Amino acid sequence: MLRMKLKICLIGSEVAPFSKTGGLADVCGALTKYLHAAGHDVRVFTPLYSAIDRSALEPHPVPGLQDVPLEVGAHRYRYSVLAARVPGTSADVYFIDCPTLYARASIYTGDPDEHLRFIALTRAAIESCQRLAFSPQILHAHDWHAAFAPLYLKVAYDWDPLFKRTRSVLTIHNIGYQGVFAASAVADLGVGARIDRLHQDDLRAGHINALKHGIMYADAITTVSPTYAAEICTAEYGMGLQDALRARGAALSGILNGADYDEWDPRRDRYLPSHYDAAHLQNKAALKQAFLARCKISVGARAPLVGFVSRMATQKGFDITFDELPRALLAQDFALVGLGSGEARYEEFFAGLQQRFPGRVLFHRGYSDELAHWIEAASDLFLMPSLYEPCGLNQMYSLRYGTVPLVRRTGGLADTVEPYDRATRRGTGIVFDDFSPAAFAQALQSALALYAQRDHWRRLVANGMSQDFSWTRQGGLYVELYERLARGATAA
Ligand code: ADP
Ligand code: GLC
Repeated sequence: MLRMKLKICLIGSEVAPFSKTGGLADVCGALTKYLHAAGHDVRVFTPLYSAIDRSALEPHPVPGLQDVPLEVGAHRYRYSVLAARVPGTSADVYFIDCPTLYARASIYTGDPDEHLRFIALTRAAIESCQRLAFSPQILHAHDWHAAFAPLYLKVAYDWDPLFKRTRSVLTIHNIGYQGVFAASAVADLGVGARIDRLHQDDLRAGHINALKHGIMYADAITTVSPTYAAEICTAEYGMGLQDALRARGAALSGILNGADYDEWDPRRDRYLPSHYDAAHLQNKAALKQAFLARCKISVGARAPLVGFVSRMATQKGFDITFDELPRALLAQDFALVGLGSGEARYEEFFAGLQQRFPGRVLFHRGYSDELAHWIEAASDLFLMPSLYEPCGLNQMYSLRYGTVPLVRRTGGLADTVEPYDRATRRGTGIVFDDFSPAAFAQALQSALALYAQRDHWRRLVANGMSQDFSWTRQGGLYVELYERLARGATAA
């Protein structure tokens, strides 16, 4: 079949390497690179947060998009669009420069106008397409921040022939974040009399749910792994949106994220002083020793290093590690290095663990790209005991770095890590089912035991390193979906 050259408008609240709190940024950045390299015309819109270093961007003002007015309900803003290259590519990202909204201490805020910040992003993106006379076949909205876009196409910009053939895709990266705000803010949506298209029961109950409207109106809904696509249709994982999703069942699918191997590959990682692949694991061992020395950790020469890099939210499952980690540290010789920040009880637990086991445990509270890469490279085992995990990227990075992932069988973790089987010597990680301290303890113990069986461990590492989750494969699945939608629109 002849491939179409597609025009795509992508809206995301985070785009790596410019702004990032988690995997959403990696995906928006990598998908943009993939689509551009595959020959599509992709315009990505994202806020110019004050944390973004403008001088490093070398941005250029987009003609026709300077100091333009924007109405968001009764609010009036002015914004300009600055374009900058995704490093190492010729793809541009369009930054919405509106200091009133985006010059804040962090990407997300608890400020009363939080909903306005992202409604404005969505409307500015759509109106920029109008001003550029850019007629996208696909508008791809990511997470709740952009989730009103499909509704807007249907009720606020439906008069414009530019969008007659535009089809919308909503990607849900995490159903735990829905963008819920008070119904009193309804006027901020600026849909006038078309308020009847909003979810009426929610309005009566006093709130508006951004993600739910995306689910109601997107032409296609995707989430970031096939298993999570099935999970979010259940009461256990749907976080209240399972019925809305089931009602759109035929439009919902799971497309596993890719891993950006330009950024995450031990053969060329720019944060590492030396590199390795499956045939040169002695270099990984040397990096581990250098890292242990840097972290002032002293354990036996044959002791494994266990690592994690994570937002510290309930989702990530650290609750079930609280009993076992200190118990195992008392009984066995291994080291633990963790990086993350978030909820206080997790930060306090790991800070306490470091105090209790000096020279064995290092916990770095905060955010550091450099340290994240070092932990991936230097560790032997990588912990992801998630309560739920839409996709998860670090387990894919771990596989590539020869760092065995220990994961709970949920969402994308279930789709990317195959349990190691001693008999067949197949499998890429340690996988457990129950979200319980006992199941985690058993998984950690079997990982430590396997590590001692060098022959099995070497095989497990090699199996993982041979996996390929590159965007070349996963990006193609998005293009197939876009093409299906675009063809349907042309036929209609
Ligand atoms: P989520 O998006 O739920 O946080 P993912 O596994 O999809 O989980 O992606 C997390 C991404 O954020 C990875 O690239 C990971 O390396 C990065 N990350 C998470 N916490 C930190 C941190 N404290 N410092 C640096 N990078 C981090
Ligand atoms: C979310 C999810 C994570 C996923 C990422 C990128 O933040 O928690 O599992 O990998 O988005 O899609």
